[in-house]
Amino acid sequence: MAHIPITPQSDADPAVVRDIQHYMRPGLLQLPSLPPLSLYVHLPWCLKKCPYCDFNSHEFRDGSGDGVGGPGQVPEQRYIDALMADLEAALPLIWGRTVHSIFIGGGTPSLFSPQSIDRLLSDIRARLRLESDCEITMEANPGTFEKDRFRAYRSAGVTRLSIGVQSFNDTHLKALGRVHDRAQALAAVEEAAQAFDTFNLDIMYALPGQTMPELEQDLLTALAFAPPHISIYHLTIEPNTYFAKFPPAIPEDDQAYAMLDRITEMTGEAGMARYEISAYARPGHQCFHNINYWQFGDYLGIGAGAHSKLSFAHRVVRQVRFRDPARYMDNALAGRAMAQDDDVRRADLPFEYMLNALRLRDGFALQDFTDRTGLPLTTIAKGLEAAERKGLIERDAARVRPTERGFDFLSDLQELFLAD
Ligand SMILES: C[S@@+](CC[C@H](N)C(=O)[O-])C[C@H]1O[C@@H](n2cnc3c(N)ncnc32)[C@H](O)[C@@H]1O
Ligand code: SF4
Repeated sequence: MAHIPITPQSDADPAVVRDIQHYMRPGLLQLPSLPPLSLYVHLPWCLKKCPYCDFNSHEFRDGSGDGVGGPGQVPEQRYIDALMADLEAALPLIWGRTVHSIFIGGGTPSLFSPQSIDRLLSDIRARLRLESDCEITMEANPGTFEKDRFRAYRSAGVTRLSIGVQSFNDTHLKALGRVHDRAQALAAVEEAAQAFDTFNLDIMYALPGQTMPELEQDLLTALAFAPPHISIYHLTIEPNTYFAKFPPAIPEDDQAYAMLDRITEMTGEAGMARYEISAYARPGHQCFHNINYWQFGDYLGIGAGAHSKLSFAHRVVRQVRFRDPARYMDNALAGRAMAQDDDVRRADLPFEYMLNALRLRDGFALQDFTDRTGLPLTTIAKGLEAAERKGLIERDAARVRPTERGFDFLSDLQELFLAD
């Protein structure tokens, strides 16, 4: 999971259809070149909605998937038809560009059969030029696991599996409302380790009632599989979720900070480096797709509620597709999947850039800032001075890097670049 800023959006809004000429018009920015392009594909259904989750995910039993699949069944083929109509309508915006990575996220993409994922990837390849070593990640939930299913995804072309483990402790899995238990999590990770050269485990900490020894046990279990990559998230209580309405008792902030220190220590001892605020990897196993987000690269997002960020010579554009799966399918099949399409305001670009780039342990090259925002360095000079004075960054003539303190107080650091 990469946390992409979410713009509030109402599906009551009409579809947005912009003239292709708009994107090419002269504007205030001067981008000397375009960044790498990634593709995000959102598959929005889950077996059951988790009480902490504010992602655009829907229980398919609730009828939101009505259509060719009928009630109670994910309409896989109709949804893929809609994705392809969505992609085809977007092609003029990425003309001639190569795709460097694909991320199939959700929701629970592993609800889709391996045959459907095979069709999805073939249909994408028929329409886009992929880099020869294109990283193709897919998210999987241990609750949808059955023998040989992960191997079949591998044969369909997925190169990297990301498993939503969250915890190996049955009590905590229950408190999180997960559909799987410890035994299913262990079986899923075991098969992923056999089927994939590289894979990720999503783990959450500061869980309801969790103690430090329990967190250590979860991590020891995860590390015993020698995972190439782990993403570790502090459980947050998001607005409009079940947990926001009925908050569980979770560890205090001090306790959560101590847990994070312990996580960094234990993963470090296991040979993994914290290369991003919530991502730990063995050498050579960093996730290209997420690094591209954090380096302010481009991504085209197709599927219900998917977000895109696309650069042009004189503007940076953000788009959002319709959120509700049924409405998305109807609109995408009619060639108008887009609910929002806005140029990023010049004044907002420095903060948007920093929101991403400062999450990386190695920070960013000053040249990349000008290349990717089309703005001169003078637009961040004041913010950089303040950040350096407060000990939140270190820099030389070419690079800016968050310090340990900057990493600990990341939102304070990022806020220094907010527009006046
Ligand atoms: C979109 S989910 C994809 C994985 C899959 N849907 C699953 O849950 O198994 C990505 C990850 O975000 C994390 N996540 C979701 N909601 C969160 C929250 N409220 N606080 C912290 N992490 C969260 C979980 O670790 C989850 O695996
Ligand atoms: S399985 Fe993942 S996407 Fe689905 S509701 Fe749970 S956390 Fe959200």
